[in-house]
Amino acid sequence: METDYSTLIEKAREAMAFSYSPYSHFAVGSCILTKDGKMYTGSNIENASYGITCCAERVALYNAVSSGKRAFRAVAIISNSDSYIYPCGVCRQAIAEFDGDEDIDVISAKNSGGYIINKLKDLLPHTFSGKDIE
Ligand code: THU
Repeated sequence: METDYSTLIEKAREAMAFSYSPYSHFAVGSCILTKDGKMYTGSNIENASYGITCCAERVALYNAVSSGKRAFRAVAIISNSDSYIYPCGVCRQAIAEFDGDEDIDVISAKNSGGYIINKLKDLLPHTFSGKDIE
């Protein structure tokens, strides 16, 4: 049976309202669900020095990790465009750091409705991880 991610998507949508994106005008919201059922949100935060912009997914992830969470079930992403948004490569790697059980779902939600679920391990196969540097 498929998990109901509607609350996670709604929280990502709410977070999108806090996007600071004066340069791209591309607002993104994200919400990450911990294995113990807590949710942490993030939005993209841009900067005049473009390269230090942080994606919504990493803001949500770091919000959760800095609140003491390290085990995650799913992460939802939504933007103000009408397309499905997938985490960029940097965010896939950042989330993979906390995907020890290789079971995190990535929910790409469309602003007008509908969503697609992928496993992070399918979006980022052959991940470089802490095991490689033991
Ligand atoms: N962005 C995200 O927040 N998440 C993604 O998955 C892709 C891109 C942001 C970064 C930047 O603020 C804007 O979208 C345009 O790239």
